[in-house]
Amino acid sequence: MEKEIFAERLKEAMDRQGIKQIDLVRAAAEQGIKLGKSHVSQYVSGKNVPRADILRFLARTLQVEETWLEGGSSDVGEEERSFGGGEHQEGSERKKSGGKNMREFKKSTKLDNVLYDVRGPVVDEAARMEETGTQILKLNIGNPAPFGFRTPDEVIYDMSRQLTECEGYSAANGLFSARKAIMQYAQLKQIPNVSMEDIYTGNGVSELINLSMSALLNDGDEILIPSPDYPLWTACATLAGGKAVHYVCDEEAEWYPDMEDIRKKITDRTKAIVIINPNNPTGALYPKEVLNEIVEIAREHQLIIFSDEIYDRLVMDGEKHVSIASLAPDVFCVTYSGLSKSHMIAGFRIGWMILSGNKRIAKDYIEGIKMLSNMRLCSNVPAQSIVQTALGGHQSVTSYLVPGGRIYEQREYIYKALNDIPGISAVKPKAAFYIFPKMDVKKFNITDDEKFALDLLREKKILLVHGGGFNWEKPDHFRVVYLPRIEVLKEAVEKLGDFFQYYHQ
Ligand SMILES: Cc1ncc(COP(=O)(O)O)c(C=O)c1O
Repeated sequence: MEKEIFAERLKEAMDRQGIKQIDLVRAAAEQGIKLGKSHVSQYVSGKNVPRADILRFLARTLQVEETWLEGGSSDVGEEERSFGGGEHQEGSERKKSGGKNMREFKKSTKLDNVLYDVRGPVVDEAARMEETGTQILKLNIGNPAPFGFRTPDEVIYDMSRQLTECEGYSAANGLFSARKAIMQYAQLKQIPNVSMEDIYTGNGVSELINLSMSALLNDGDEILIPSPDYPLWTACATLAGGKAVHYVCDEEAEWYPDMEDIRKKITDRTKAIVIINPNNPTGALYPKEVLNEIVEIAREHQLIIFSDEIYDRLVMDGEKHVSIASLAPDVFCVTYSGLSKSHMIAGFRIGWMILSGNKRIAKDYIEGIKMLSNMRLCSNVPAQSIVQTALGGHQSVTSYLVPGGRIYEQREYIYKALNDIPGISAVKPKAAFYIFPKMDVKKFNITDDEKFALDLLREKKILLVHGGGFNWEKPDHFRVVYLPRIEVLKEAVEKLGDFFQYYHQ
């Protein structure tokens, strides 16, 4: 029996039945059959195949034939027929598999072009490796808490004090106290024409990105999104039926948006432009001049500006973040921010969006936003209850961003260490906690960046996201989250340096 084919068949049967490795272990124990977790994971990873009695048990439990599990010919595909009355129905059909008729549910075709690799196939492989006991260093996700960035005590205390008052739904657009604090924050950022009604809280910025794309885009409507991007923007625009048109950010120019490219890509179907400032994955911070140029383009072509500013308080080198909405009182702008990054409470799920500028032209769109906001009832109320505490007073995060502070020192270290690896170069990030290095693809003969990420994971146990995961077209970049302490980053860079000494695709 071929180990790899057996592994494939086993995974397929498990997926179909919704059975996990641990379920098999439990079922075996219940039947008095000796089957350990490590055995199952060896079968799934193709390292080993089972004895005859275990094979029988697996076939029985997964409702397939032993011969099929062993790699015998399958009639899947040959006898495919639609489910229900012989008429083809999209999304659900019956297949003959392992001798059994099985209904199969397919994901919606709306998801066909949706990509979100921050938690994608390479991450799945890392999870599989972890199940077999391998320790993985995860530099793939901007999640501060696991790296020792703790929520300020005052925030936790205030939330616990208010918990009993947060049992019911709040108003759909958010608690009064939260929206008031966000409105005052908008005033500090000089965002014009913002009233309490123009603010919506969400279960993270993520929910609001999805909501605003769904409310705006008809099939085929175009929206300009940066490349590289935070991929949720492209995913949500696509899911909403829109067409994400990527404009290039220029590595040679501090990763600023390329205005020529933006102009070239505007058509009469373009409704909006998205900017991510400060930027994930590049760590760029856009100066006023760059923002003014974008406003000028939006003005000229009557575009909405969506500005994702979730990292606006994580800025280094004495620079100051400018909200693009403050420069565009005559353009309709939606500005997004939240507490996941600046207050290290990604798990509490709280973000918001602020509508500003020329709201008259967006009256109907705002109706759509309200409708979708009402439909989800409200965002997490305990998390809303601490917005006022978090936004006011002393901002503990600022001490991380200056010399001696963790984010600053980790940025200094990673920037230098990566640039010291032959064949790797990176622009110095000014904000957030990401760096987006370039690989010399000729030197390493890299043609597939996802394969690079998988090879690195398997060989060095380091999990990164490849550039393609951020809608970057060439296979020549990857993103590093530099949240871990310097000792950990050091170990990672040593392994990376070693990997790039011999890696050739
Ligand atoms: C640019 C950007 N926008 C939005 C989000 C989502 O944030 P939230 O936790 O508020 O959903 C992230 C998370 O990494 C991000 O990097």
